[in-house]
Parts: sequence; C-alpha cells; structure tokens
Amino acid sequence: MKNMISMRDLSKKDILHLMEIAAKIEDGEIVPDLKGRLAALLFFEPSTRTMFSFDTAVKRMNGSTIIMSGTKNTSSKKGETFADTLQTIAQYSDIIIMRTPVEGAARYASEIVNIPVVNAGDGANQHPTQALLDLYSIMKTQGTLEGLKVGLAGDLRFGRTVHSLAQALSLFGVQFKFISPSFLQMPEYIKDDLEARKIKFTELDDIEGNIDDLDILYVTRIQKERFADPEDYENLKGSYILKKSMLDNVKTNFKVMHPLPRVDEINTDVDDTKYAYYFPQAKNGVFTRQALIAILLGEV
Ligand code: CP
Repeated sequence: MKNMISMRDLSKKDILHLMEIAAKIEDGEIVPDLKGRLAALLFFEPSTRTMFSFDTAVKRMNGSTIIMSGTKNTSSKKGETFADTLQTIAQYSDIIIMRTPVEGAARYASEIVNIPVVNAGDGANQHPTQALLDLYSIMKTQGTLEGLKVGLAGDLRFGRTVHSLAQALSLFGVQFKFISPSFLQMPEYIKDDLEARKIKFTELDDIEGNIDDLDILYVTRIQKERFADPEDYENLKGSYILKKSMLDNVKTNFKVMHPLPRVDEINTDVDDTKYAYYFPQAKNGVFTRQALIAILLGEV
C-alpha cells in the first residue's frame, strides 16, 4: 500500500492484514514509533471524529501533526491552487491525510505529491478509513467478517461511508439489506458491481420489521450538505428513525452502528441498550488509523 484512496484498491488480504495490525496495536503487542515523523491533516470540510482520531493516532505513536481545518486563514484565499497547496505541504510532512468536498480530489493529490496520501472523505464518493474502522468494529463484535447479514440504512445515495463499506464487505460474502427512501437509494454503479459478483442484496424503504434477521444495522445521517435542492432535504428529513421499541426481536449478537454524527436517525433511547455500538466504533477509529499510518510509513 502506497496510498489509501478507495476501498476498491484493497484486497481481502490487505484488509485482514490491517485488521490484525490494528488488533495488535490495541492490545499493546505492537507499538509503532513515529518519532520525528509528521502528518499533515488537511480538512477542507468539517470533521470531528476523522480529524481528531487521526491526530490522536499519530500522537499515540509519538509522531506530530499540522492541521488545516478549513481554508479561512490559508493562501488559498489569495488564489493559490489546490495543487500548489498540496505540493507545498508535502515539503513539510511525511504523509497527507485529506478531506475535501470534491470527488476524486484525493486520487488527484496522490498523483502530484511523492508522499502517501490518505482519503479522509471525498464528497459523496468514498470514506475508506471509516470503512476500515467499521470492518474492525464488525470483526470485534461478530468475531468474523464472513457471511454476515448487514443492513445499511439511511442516505445510501450521498453517504460516502456506505459506499466504501458495501464495497469492502462484498469481499466477505455478506448479504445486504439496503434500507432507504427511494430518492436516497444506493448508486447504480455499486449495485451493478455487486450484481456482477453475485453478492445478494435487497432494497427496502423501512427499518421497522426488517431488522430481526440482521447481525449489523448500519444507520447513516441524511447528508443535507450534498442536496442540490434544499426542498428535497426538507421532504426527506426525519423519514426513518431507529427506536428502542424496534429492537424487541433482534438477534442476541445484533449491533447498531453509525459513522456519526447523527441528527435524529437513532433515537437516544437506543444508546443505553446492549445493541448500541456507535461510540466504541468511533474509538476503534484510533487503532485502525494507527495501523494504516504505520503501514503506509513502513513502521510495521
Ligand atoms: N464519521 C465521520 O467521518 O465523522 P466526522 O465527519 O466527524 O469526521
């Protein structure tokens, strides 16, 4: 691995290797040392978990970070191009971790700098490091990634996390339920790819009554910021909400996951149930991001 741009770039073997390294880092069996190494975190879009967990991951390995959170106080306001900004930051750092609203921007960045680039989210396209922590969370809670039944619910159209996760889980013989309003269905290019590889999925429009046979329900926020017409968002907001009362007949191993942030799609009465896993899931982001950075920088 030279960069981490898309889940499509990783094989099953790559993923399992990264999971193993993450588990050893969590257990303290491997302690990568990034002393003297510097990661540049360039966030052109807002973030809480991804930015701070990458920052935490680097610092836990004795490395240091420089952080750009928005472009307000940077020379892009004077007209500096994206390419010039990246080539400049690459002079100071050993790895670039970047989030932008532009699909394909991380791939482009990886082609113009000579240090590793990590895609921390590019528009509605991909969020591969979220998928890695999601896989790690599924592995921890289910003991395997193979042959599970997984529901992906919510904004499957604009939600980059579910695009990356569907592609990743498809390598492990997972059966999917895609649960969303029709306007927010999974993009055709992902469904076409699943069909071509004979991965089973069904499309449904309601959570209620459709989760009792699942191992994992992965809920996502409606991505307000990606709607061209605000009226479409107003019509769809609040259209699905997971409540504690819907969990009476779920399997004992069942877990509710969410990349967060949530708006109202998981009622807070779910938080205290044994099924809620979204906050431990966020914590797992540190271990998986430590593993990824250590691999990309040749420290493991
Ligand atoms: N899950 C996730 O990407 O969260 P942030 O937008 O807070 O980074």
